[in-house]
Amino acid sequence: MNIQTLLNTRIQNAMVAAGGPEGSPAIVRQSAKVQFGDYQANGIMGVAKKLKMNPRDFAQNVLEHLDLTDISDKVDIAGPGFINIFLKPEWMAQEIRRVLNDARLDVQQVSQPQTIVVDYSSPNLAKEMHVGHLRSTVIGDSVVRTLEFLGHHVIRQNHVGDWGTQFGMLLAYMERLRQESSEISMVLSDLEIFYRDAKKCFDEDESFAVRARELVVALQSGDKQCLALWNEFIDISLTHCEETYKMLGVSLKREHVMPESAYNDDLASVVTELNHQGLLTESKGAQCVFMEEFANKEGEITPVIVQKTGGGFLYSTTDLAALRFRQHTLGFDRGLYFVDARQSLHFQQIFTLGRKAGFVKPETSLEHMPFGTVMGRDGKPFKTRSGGVAKLSALLEEAQERAYTLVSSKNPDMAEEELKNIGRVVGIASVKYADLSKNRTSDYVFNWDQMLSFEGNTAPYLLYAYSRIASIVKRSETELSTIEGVISLSSIQERALAVRLLQFSEALEQVANDGMPHFMCTYLYDLAGVFMSFYEACPILTAEPEVKASRLLLAINTASTLKKGLELLGIETLERM
Ligand code: ARG
Repeated sequence: MNIQTLLNTRIQNAMVAAGGPEGSPAIVRQSAKVQFGDYQANGIMGVAKKLKMNPRDFAQNVLEHLDLTDISDKVDIAGPGFINIFLKPEWMAQEIRRVLNDARLDVQQVSQPQTIVVDYSSPNLAKEMHVGHLRSTVIGDSVVRTLEFLGHHVIRQNHVGDWGTQFGMLLAYMERLRQESSEISMVLSDLEIFYRDAKKCFDEDESFAVRARELVVALQSGDKQCLALWNEFIDISLTHCEETYKMLGVSLKREHVMPESAYNDDLASVVTELNHQGLLTESKGAQCVFMEEFANKEGEITPVIVQKTGGGFLYSTTDLAALRFRQHTLGFDRGLYFVDARQSLHFQQIFTLGRKAGFVKPETSLEHMPFGTVMGRDGKPFKTRSGGVAKLSALLEEAQERAYTLVSSKNPDMAEEELKNIGRVVGIASVKYADLSKNRTSDYVFNWDQMLSFEGNTAPYLLYAYSRIASIVKRSETELSTIEGVISLSSIQERALAVRLLQFSEALEQVANDGMPHFMCTYLYDLAGVFMSFYEACPILTAEPEVKASRLLLAINTASTLKKGLELLGIETLERM
């Protein structure tokens, strides 16, 4: 059940019945303050203006055509013509019953599922995943989970970078090590070091650099031996990624990898096609597309270069090929790209060009979902203490150790194995949640103390709240199925909790529409807070049987909502911590 949608429909219909034009939105939102009710409709004023009517008079007309008696016990006109709606406790109680009896928490699947391609994580395989990949990976994964839960057909595409000149250097280094008969898999156990050493040879040793360039050419012309070496490298690098995904609890698997190299055979035809359509211009020997849309104030256009002088293709060419593949082969209705905000121009250009060239249908929605940078406390992009790029796997190890130390000090009597597991869950959750809970488009500061704190909008706070509620339910020693009776929402705290519980699907839809998991985080944090106020004011275990049953049902519902919400964020919960 989505109350917002329900109210929107009803009020919109009443507006039409009252003489308003078809299709004017009712604009129903959750009210900001209790005195404004639970929901507020703001659409009256706009329509009244069109009708040249006094908004309060029009609001009055709308109310005469609006029947909300089943769900609301009070509807007010306020200010210049807002409609404030107060939900009816009996109705909420009955809705909560439905949620309790449903594994999906009464969230309906969409009636028209879309095919949605989600392009996320997508690291370059020449190096190991670093902190810069955290955002794309965890935000993308939680949006994927949410869309799937809503019933969409989601196709994950891990558009990894596995092609380009730096691979010549890496292959040359592999070749050299093999001649010295070093164990390749050992040397590749740390790709950062491998890359650094290869780069050193490349910069200092001319004959090595020559060999590296030869290998690029050999690779591109499909030389068997060279490809075998490259395959070996890519496989090891992907295995590193998979270890990180596993540690992070991210749902990406090998079958979701659709690397840049997979489009190699399509690149020439992308350029030919653009040429046929008269979109290409040669500029200094390179093949470019100049689009008016991308002119600056002086009228200078930043072109999309699709083929370099000498024939090489680029990142843009590959993305155009990927667009065409996603439309023609995967048949997507919507494409979401979770990629750093610094690539915004690239995506705007690719999307515009893809449409002009007819690679995507006009009705297909293409959405770059940009994100900000993870910053250090010094206000610069986050680095390790020694100043290097922070390897993601090392960061996640550190998170688990820190969390372990923290929970061990809180639970000196707990068995080592359980402490280790709690440390793992809390550590990973902290890093993920710190990222997911920030508005996607802004930068944020990576701060261990803040993300591991048990206070505020953090993973430890939410996981602890969940485990506490789970333990209350457990201590009540009541079987859910045996709890009869009505849910009574007589106190303001019980009522407030019920309203929040019923807003779960609204948070979900925001995440799905905007690709912004922080809406879910804010919702869950809020829910946990509302529960705590409820629990303080309304004792559960010591209450009279009927009251106890009713409050217990609210607690159970809160626990399952927190669990489901965290699960959709990609965060494991603990029954005890
Ligand atoms: N590999 C690229 C990078 O690390 C990101 C790729 C994003 N996806 C895409 N279709 N371009 O910057």
